[in-house]
Amino acid sequence: MKYINQKLTIEKVKAQNLAKKFGTPIYCYSYKKLRENVNAFKKNFKSFSPLICFAVKSNTNVNLIKEIRKLGLGADVVSKGELMLAIKAGINPKKIVFSGVGKTSSEISYAIDKKILLINAESKSEIIEIERISKSKKKKVDIGIRLNPNTDAKTLSQISTGKKENKFGVDEKIFFEIIDYLKDSKNINLKCLSVHIGSQILDHKPYEKMLKVVDRIIKKSSHKFEFIDLGGGMGISYGNNNKKLNYKKYNIAIKKFLINHNSKIIFEPGRSIVGNVGSLISKIIYIKESNKKNFIIIDAAMNDLMRPALYGANHKTLPVIKTQQILKKTHEFVGPICESTDKFTTLKQFQKLKEKDLIIMCDVGAYGMSLSSNYNMRPRPAEVLIKGSKINVIKKRQKLKDLI
Ligand code: LLP
Repeated sequence: MKYINQKLTIEKVKAQNLAKKFGTPIYCYSYKKLRENVNAFKKNFKSFSPLICFAVKSNTNVNLIKEIRKLGLGADVVSKGELMLAIKAGINPKKIVFSGVGKTSSEISYAIDKKILLINAESKSEIIEIERISKSKKKKVDIGIRLNPNTDAKTLSQISTGKKENKFGVDEKIFFEIIDYLKDSKNINLKCLSVHIGSQILDHKPYEKMLKVVDRIIKKSSHKFEFIDLGGGMGISYGNNNKKLNYKKYNIAIKKFLINHNSKIIFEPGRSIVGNVGSLISKIIYIKESNKKNFIIIDAAMNDLMRPALYGANHKTLPVIKTQQILKKTHEFVGPICESTDKFTTLKQFQKLKEKDLIIMCDVGAYGMSLSSNYNMRPRPAEVLIKGSKINVIKKRQKLKDLI
């Protein structure tokens, strides 16, 4: 994304033309960026060629997932719906892992029927249920156990998952009990140890700690795990924070770990694959001036992009057409929804704006559209995928008649 003659351009397409042709708010994805991210991810860990399972929850557009599949990735799913979607996108079930603390019997049964690579179980009760269902189907099912390594991911508390107070995975004691329980199981193959300590992780040290815990536990268990699923969580730089995860150090830590463990590594990245691939174009409806600040009321709202309301996330916001005039006044970008948390970024200054101008919010490819809702009876936005100068509508804007 760059300015050409002051006009914001995604690959070879002017953002203003997208708004004109398809309306606003609209999610736009860059194929080039997607391919770059996938290749960079593979390159970071190429010495042990992991299985990379895209975390579908971060972006559930079937056409985008098809592109991700063509780039060689599998899928990490957390519901029957996501599993069906991954299969519809053509992902080989042998490249699909199923995570989640509350898989229902129907979800487990469907996953078994589809012969996916692994069901990553998160409790004793779930294991018993998987065993019961696989027995009734006269099958032997491959599973993983998600370990809660009690490791602080040093990220937002709302997206931390690896501490003992979090609901995810099982603690060390139960982990060993499960291994024991499954020793002679006729219907379950314990093939994987999985972990996922959180999301938007920018410090490699929590990953090093996590690996140490996993290393110690495997040695103590003396069970041979064919797979070690290290989850996702790799953070990206949002806004003006240029922090980056040190992939080199994470890679070194994994290679060190693999000296003692002959297992295939699985990753479940979401944000690092699609986060900076997407932007959201929105039009200014009104500008409400007050003494202290200007409210820039835009046609995107918290139902379209939930991250700011849910986590106080800050997405870099840019004008679609750049001018030289700066207005030194606080600008609060807000949506039309009747909630005070329906606001996006607040900036001390911005270029002088007028009603009907377009702005764009960056890095919304992950947990943008997938977290959207129809709150306030607002139809979901359209999504387009840009490849060079080609524009593909990969999801049409929802119509009110679909909602009413
Ligand atoms: N694997 C598991 C088991 C997960 O729970 C998650 C994310 C991932 C993989 C992918 O994590 P990633 O690589 O994308 O960090 N809605 C929040 C993020 C929630 C993440 C939930 N789990 C946000 O907008 O920041």
